[in-house]
Amino acid sequence: MFNFFKKPKPIHKDSSALDMDRIPKHIGIIMDGNGRWAKGRNLPRTMGHKAGVETIRKILKECNRLGVRYLTLYAFSTENWKRPKDEVSALMTLLVEYLKNELKELHENNVVVNYVGNIARLPEAAQRALSDAKEMTKDNTGVQMNLALNYGGREEIVRGVRDIAEAVHSGAIKVEDITEESFKDYLYTKGQPDPELIIRPSGELRLSNFLLYQSAYSELWFSSINWPDFSEDHLRGAIADYQKRDRRFGGVKSE
Ligand code: FPP
Repeated sequence: MFNFFKKPKPIHKDSSALDMDRIPKHIGIIMDGNGRWAKGRNLPRTMGHKAGVETIRKILKECNRLGVRYLTLYAFSTENWKRPKDEVSALMTLLVEYLKNELKELHENNVVVNYVGNIARLPEAAQRALSDAKEMTKDNTGVQMNLALNYGGREEIVRGVRDIAEAVHSGAIKVEDITEESFKDYLYTKGQPDPELIIRPSGELRLSNFLLYQSAYSELWFSSINWPDFSEDHLRGAIADYQKRDRRFGGVKSE
């Protein structure tokens, strides 16, 4: 049983423990455990999501401070439509409020706001808030926040396959041009490096359809902490662990 009331132990309090030359360029986070966090406090699930937004604020700032280039946050999956209508609608409202209330500050903090996923199915207000935020922040040079919304790794790959088939059909490319590398141009993350590190709090040990193509060689970091309790210390701890990993990409350890 998790002890929801116990304050998480601080780990890696300052970034001096980190090798600042080996900060991951791209971190993906599966923001899980909002519902359990709320349940443990006898609160409605939506309060867990609200608390989760506070964590986004902190973690985004810390990523910017550490020099992470891309932060992909799994906010709403292609499977999350199965949730009760009220919860889906509360999540969409939270998204719109977050973008509206925070846009000025995000812009001042040099954050680039982006999304990955098929946003055409989101409510119009959400689509508008996302494109406004994307447009306003497009020339910023700080961390790029990819909000994964109506995102599914399988949907992304199938969509990419369809687009590439059309490109071949129209003569724009040849079958021989299709490579593991060129296929990346057909993904939502086109032009971005693969995530070196994927973090999943809340005790679940799976990827749940997140960045399936891009995560082939990602280092995975799991913790039993629920997302609303996830702190800058946990992020630094995850990066410190990542820096200790021996990444061989199928090769052998270098001498
Ligand atoms: C998973 O926890 C969390 C989600 C499906 C939603 C994540 C959304 C936010 C953190 C806030 C909204 C996003 C933005 C960008 C404003 P869960 O509900 O599955 O938790 P549980 O497994 O404990 O039930």
